[in-house]
Amino acid sequence: MRMRKKKNLIPRMERCGDRLIREPYSMPGKWRELMPQARELRLELGCGKGRFTAGTAAAEPDVLFIAVERVPDAMVMAMERCAAQGLTNVFFIDANADQLPLFFAPGEADRIYINFCDPWPSNRHAKRRLTHGNFLRLYRQVLKMGGQIHFKTDNQDLFTFSVEELPLFGFELSEVTRDLHANGPVGVMTDYEAKFHEQGLPICRCVATMVPWEEPFPTDIRRVKNRWLDVFADGVSDAELGRHVLSDGNYLWHLFSWNLVPCLSGDAARQALSEASGEKYLFYYEEPPEGEPLVRPVTAEELVTLPADARAIPGADWYVVDKDFTWTFAQPHEADRGPYFCRKA
Ligand SMILES: C[S@@+](CC[C@H](N)C(=O)[O-])C[C@H]1O[C@@H](n2cnc3c(N)ncnc32)[C@H](O)[C@@H]1O
Repeated sequence: MRMRKKKNLIPRMERCGDRLIREPYSMPGKWRELMPQARELRLELGCGKGRFTAGTAAAEPDVLFIAVERVPDAMVMAMERCAAQGLTNVFFIDANADQLPLFFAPGEADRIYINFCDPWPSNRHAKRRLTHGNFLRLYRQVLKMGGQIHFKTDNQDLFTFSVEELPLFGFELSEVTRDLHANGPVGVMTDYEAKFHEQGLPICRCVATMVPWEEPFPTDIRRVKNRWLDVFADGVSDAELGRHVLSDGNYLWHLFSWNLVPCLSGDAARQALSEASGEKYLFYYEEPPEGEPLVRPVTAEELVTLPADARAIPGADWYVVDKDFTWTFAQPHEADRGPYFCRKA
């Protein structure tokens, strides 16, 4: 949402200051102290100007609502709305939703609302969608088992993406509709929803319930590489990634050879690999050796037998990563480079 800079933002925030949680990092496990009688604790991600926030909080005064919004110019309007209605069961966090596990204890939230989040139509930006697997993993950390995500959007492509992505991350879908208001308005509308509904656009909605789930290691090499980059290239700018790692003629291990992230190299890397625990998976950057899949589980014993010089393998450039992507080993095809070992903090 592009917004003009609001005048007097700070004093306006201050006027609603009792609703603003300034130190959310100190709050895990303590949210219910704000409202001990609360029946449930629900989060809203990207509340914008807060029509839904205020409407829902007014309709369910026995529920504690925490609205997260990264644009303070929008959030201040939501805060003022709630203050004007005298609502005491809504609090606000000015932050990015990717910080949720730092704010909430495991299982602390009963429900998450995601309404009309930015669709990020290009595949390159898919991981910024609030329904992307990277976010769903975070939501799993703060939702209780059986907790729900309530999702609405006007964007058909984002909805299609989301209803495919949610079950892949352990959420069961229900109440799936691509025309929520077909028979007249249903539930509390958001600011965006009211506008789109007025324009005659159909609204998509679904509920996703969190069920027990253990993340399988991806079998699709594209998913392996994307997750590898999400984890190990976290914090590296798109420009640097494009220049050194993802453009033609470059390789994943350039992340390390260009010192874009800290890692061990040479014998220290080989030693770290030999000591690394956990289920291990081997993948090749381009062509695997004849008869081999691009990605497969590998044992510690097999790893010892793989040549240290990747040029000895037809599908040069091989990588090892543990099941949860907490560390990786990279063997470049260039004999005088690497190997590299990187562990995420
Ligand atoms: C398209 S607006 C929708 C606002 C509101 N939910 C509605 O339906 O009227 C999306 C909102 O989500 C916020 N947002 C987007 N990504 C976010 C993130 N990662 N963390 C927190 N807020 C985010 C934006 O700043 C914006 O206010």
